[in-house]
Amino acid sequence: MAYPKIFTSFFVLILIVHIKCYTAEMKRNQVISELIKNHDRFVSPDYEEDFPTVVSVQLYVSSVDTVSEQNMEYSVTILLRQLWHDPRLNYTRMSSLSRLEMDSSRINNFWVPDLFFSNEKKGSFHDVTKPNRMLLIYRNGTVFYSIRLSLTLSCYMRLERYPMDDQICSMVMESYSYSAENVFFKWIETQKPVVVDRSIEMPQYTLKKYHATVCKKDYGEGEHIYSFNADSYISTYI
Ligand SMILES: *[C@@H]1O[C@H](CO)[C@@H](O)[C@H](O)[C@H]1NC(C)=O
Ligand SMILES: *[C@@H]1O[C@H](CO)[C@@H](O)[C@H](O)[C@H]1NC(C)=O
Repeated sequence: MAYPKIFTSFFVLILIVHIKCYTAEMKRNQVISELIKNHDRFVSPDYEEDFPTVVSVQLYVSSVDTVSEQNMEYSVTILLRQLWHDPRLNYTRMSSLSRLEMDSSRINNFWVPDLFFSNEKKGSFHDVTKPNRMLLIYRNGTVFYSIRLSLTLSCYMRLERYPMDDQICSMVMESYSYSAENVFFKWIETQKPVVVDRSIEMPQYTLKKYHATVCKKDYGEGEHIYSFNADSYISTYI
């Protein structure tokens, strides 16, 4: 009889699909375990080399929450995005998966840069449901890291001409522990370094423009740190 045969082959087909999904899942986890096992998160990617690890930085400003002349501060919510290459995480030989996505609980197993905001008064990570952090590792060892932050930053405002005034408020970033010989931070070159959400609206202010600059600071002994300035020009006169 033909009827039961069709039924049998249909059943076999479902079984094959199931097995395929299962092996793909195992491989991904194996690759991640292998990478974690051989990784020292306390050591920067090219620590043993004569050249620095280059970290490209991009800021995505999702909102400007307050601007206070009294306290000379302003607060923003941003995504801090960083891109670098870590040869230790090149998994070309282990898998053909194009990239691995790490959630917040696994990120702590990997080295990440230590940028901080030097004009920060207070800051917080977003961790509603889970910390808003994401790390992508591409097969060739290129790493993309994104964190969502809310910051209150100091801004020296010149108030002589208030309220018909333009204020320049900066976000100044520096590496906490690495000199430029070890980890070199720069603004991203392939895209806009500072991206502002187009829906940003503040009742009393307008954001006129953004300007991304780099300053070199010397700390003696040939050590220098580059600080990154994202200057926002805020106009109190609309
Ligand atoms: C690694 O792969 C990514 C994604 O395909 C690419 O954008 C990047 O330029 C590559 N990096 C290197 C160092 O080859
Ligand atoms: C990644 O590893 C493969 C195999 O070892 C090598 O051929 C390739 O050049 C490496 N890629 C990068 C960007 O280092």
